[in-house]
Amino acid sequence: MWRRIILLLAISGAYGLNGQCRVLAVAGGTERGAYEAGAISALLTNLPAGQAEYDVVTGVGIGAINAMIVASYPQGQEAQAAAKLQSFWNSFTTSTLYSDWIGGLVTGLLYESGLFDTSAMKKTIKSLAPSTKFQRWLGVGCTDLLSGGYVFFNSTGVTLANMLTGIYASASDPVIFPLVKYSSYQLVSGATKFSIDILDAVNACFQLGYQENQIIIHSVLGAGRNLSTVDAMNYKTLQVTMRFFEIFAYDSFLRVLENAKHDFPQVNMQYSIFPTHGLNHTLYPYDFTPAELAQEWQLGQADALRLIQTTLATE
Ligand SMILES: *[C@@H]1O[C@H](CO)[C@@H](O)[C@H](O)[C@H]1NC(C)=O
Ligand SMILES: *[C@@H]1O[C@H](CO)[C@@H](O)[C@H](O)[C@H]1NC(C)=O
Ligand SMILES: *[C@@H]1O[C@H](CO)[C@@H](O)[C@H](O)[C@H]1NC(C)=O
Repeated sequence: MWRRIILLLAISGAYGLNGQCRVLAVAGGTERGAYEAGAISALLTNLPAGQAEYDVVTGVGIGAINAMIVASYPQGQEAQAAAKLQSFWNSFTTSTLYSDWIGGLVTGLLYESGLFDTSAMKKTIKSLAPSTKFQRWLGVGCTDLLSGGYVFFNSTGVTLANMLTGIYASASDPVIFPLVKYSSYQLVSGATKFSIDILDAVNACFQLGYQENQIIIHSVLGAGRNLSTVDAMNYKTLQVTMRFFEIFAYDSFLRVLENAKHDFPQVNMQYSIFPTHGLNHTLYPYDFTPAELAQEWQLGQADALRLIQTTLATE
C-alpha cells in the first residue's frame, strides 16, 4: 500500500498528477508532417488553459518527429513547443530527412535497404533532442521486420539515446527509407502496424496512476476519413508506394480509433483532427515546395481551430 503511494508520488513529481491524463497521439503513414504540426500548434496555442498540457505524447512515422518536438518542452511551455514546430516546418526541405545515395535510386534498390540515404534524418533528430531527457512521457512505434512485431519505445523505459534511435526507426517509411538496426531488431516505421498509437498512450496513463475516465485523447493525423481520390494512372513507383502508405494509414487509423472506443469506453476521445481537403502529392517523398508546406500548415491550423470552436461552443 505505502509502496504504491510512494511510487505514485514519485511519478506525480515527475509528470504532474493533475486529475486528468492528457494525451496527444500523432499518426504516421503519410507525408503530412506540416499539416500535423499546424494542427498541433493550433491545439497548443488555442485550447483553454491547461487543456494542451499533455502528459503523454505518442508518435508514429513522421508523427514521431512532431511528437518528439512537443515532448521536448515541459508542461506550461506549450507556446514554445508550437514555435519550434513552426520553425522546423518553415525550414523543412527533403534534405532535412534524406539525400540520394551515390549511384542514386539504383544503389538504393540493389545495394541498400531503402531507396534514399537517411543519415540527414538521424542528424536532424539529434539536433531536435533535449539535452538530458524528454520533458513529457513520449512513446514511438516501430515495426520489426524480423518478427513482424510492433516495437514501442518509451521515454521512461529506455535511455535518451535509445529513444532517438526509436524515433529514427519510427520515421523510416519502409522501402523508401532504410531499416534501422537496434539490438536484435531490424526496424522500420510502426505505421505499417498501427498508424496511430492510442493503446500505448492509454497504458502510459494507467502506469502514471490515472483511471480510464480521467484520460482525454487528442489525435492528429495526416489522412482524412474521406480519402481524397487521386488520378493514379500517371503514378510512378515512388508515388504508388506513398499512396499505398496513405491508404493503409487511413484504414488502420479507423480501426485503431474504433478499437479504442470499444476497449476503453470511458476514455474521452475529445479531438480527432485530419485533413478536410485534399493536399498536393509529390513525385519524391516529402518533396513539397514552401508554398505547399505553408498550405498544409494552414489547413492543419484551420481544421483544428474549427473543431476547438465547435467543441467549446457545445460544452
Ligand atoms: C515503458 O517501458 C518500460 C520498460 O521497458 C515498460 O516496463 C513499460 O511497460 C512501458 N510503458 C508503456 C506504456 O509501454
Ligand atoms: C465523406 O464522404 C461522404 C460520401 O461522399 C459524405 O457524405 C461525408 O459528408 C464526407 N465526410 C466528410 C467528413 O467529409
Ligand atoms: C498544388 O499543385 C498544383 C498542380 O501542380 C499547383 O498548381 C499548385 O500551385 C500547388 N499548390 C501549392 C499550394 O503550391
